[in-house]
Amino acid sequence: MNIPTTPSTPLIESESAPDETMTAVVQDTYGAADVLELRTINHPRIAEDEVLVEVHAAGVDRGVWHLMTGQPYLIRIAGYGLRKPKNPTLGLDLAGRVVAIGADVTRFQPGDDVFGIGNGTYARYATAHQDKLAHKPQNATYEQAAVATVSGITALEALTKVGHLEAGQRVLIVGASGGVGTYAIQLAKALGAEVTGVGGPGSADMMHSIGADHVIDYTEEDFVNGQDQYDLILDIGGRNSISRLRSVLTPKGTLVIVGGEGGNRVTGGVGRQLRAMMLSPFIAQRLTTFISSEHYTNIERLAAHIERGDVVSTIGARFGLADVPVAMRHLESSGSNGKSVIVVRDTETK
Ligand SMILES: NC(=O)c1ccc[n+]([C@@H]2O[C@H](COP(=O)([O-])OP(=O)(O)OC[C@H]3O[C@@H](n4cnc5c(N)ncnc54)[C@H](OP(=O)(O)O)[C@@H]3O)[C@@H](O)[C@H]2O)c1
Repeated sequence: MNIPTTPSTPLIESESAPDETMTAVVQDTYGAADVLELRTINHPRIAEDEVLVEVHAAGVDRGVWHLMTGQPYLIRIAGYGLRKPKNPTLGLDLAGRVVAIGADVTRFQPGDDVFGIGNGTYARYATAHQDKLAHKPQNATYEQAAVATVSGITALEALTKVGHLEAGQRVLIVGASGGVGTYAIQLAKALGAEVTGVGGPGSADMMHSIGADHVIDYTEEDFVNGQDQYDLILDIGGRNSISRLRSVLTPKGTLVIVGGEGGNRVTGGVGRQLRAMMLSPFIAQRLTTFISSEHYTNIERLAAHIERGDVVSTIGARFGLADVPVAMRHLESSGSNGKSVIVVRDTETK
């Protein structure tokens, strides 16, 4: 489970364009995809350290699903609104063009193409804090850039800052066919690892095509096979038990628990992460977890990998703004292959 770290800015009538309206995907209450409506609302107003972005495309990820449902309840306590969302407009990841900047913005100018994390990005325009944006790599389309941030920075941090990956190490990525996993496969390969990806049915060819050396379909084969061991495991999907994961970890290897859906409604089952952290000091293996940092330095590190061609977003499905409820149901069903994208402006140029 990923809980986005900073609550979104509430929508206020725009000062910069007070009479302007736009279409946006809005929810008045937490719930399933049925709570989402396409409405005409006022442009959001930018704060002094924010920019207004004309959204070209926006990403779909588990964090957005948690904001839509308000589950686990921990997310509400974290500041997103106890009974209903503080910001009724959905969406986190985005790529687009800056059209206005706040008085304290130093990193961007109107006309800049950007990608990163915004506030309510399933809309024609969205605000974003300047510290959560980077310039869009020129070799990435808006769609490719739009889906990259939340999943890409998580994969990069899991492998490097948290997992301390070294070239030549063997890496097991459990949940490799989804959002975070498809970036993790490519980044681990670029960092010199031998990569085994565990993913869903029908994803083997895709995982191979983006660089996995070995692939396992979790419905057909168990990665616990009594033979293979790994220096680093990223546990992204499937919520395997800590003892199962430890059984395929080398004696001094590292397990990074990134997430996993399910668990109880209140905490989403972070108990597994807590147990791992408590056990780790008493064993030779390192068991750890983290919440990714949305700071622009991480987004710029990801952008550098995109510019070098180390990683290309794997886009599984495209939806228009009106079809966001369909996109959210698609996310809930298994069989994810990479990321889904919401195409806000159909201008697929670089
Ligand atoms: N720590 C952080 O800061 C952070 C940041 C971002 C995300 N997250 C969390 O990380 C988790 C994954 O996010 P995501 O965006 O990558 O989700 P996702 O796109 O749904 O990907 C999950 C992947 O896990 C696979 N999977 C499901 N059951 C599995 C099993 N038993 N064994 C192996 N693989 C299995 C899924 O395959 P099928 O679809 O075929 O079942 C899918 O490919 C979520 O819980 C999210 O909240 C954490």
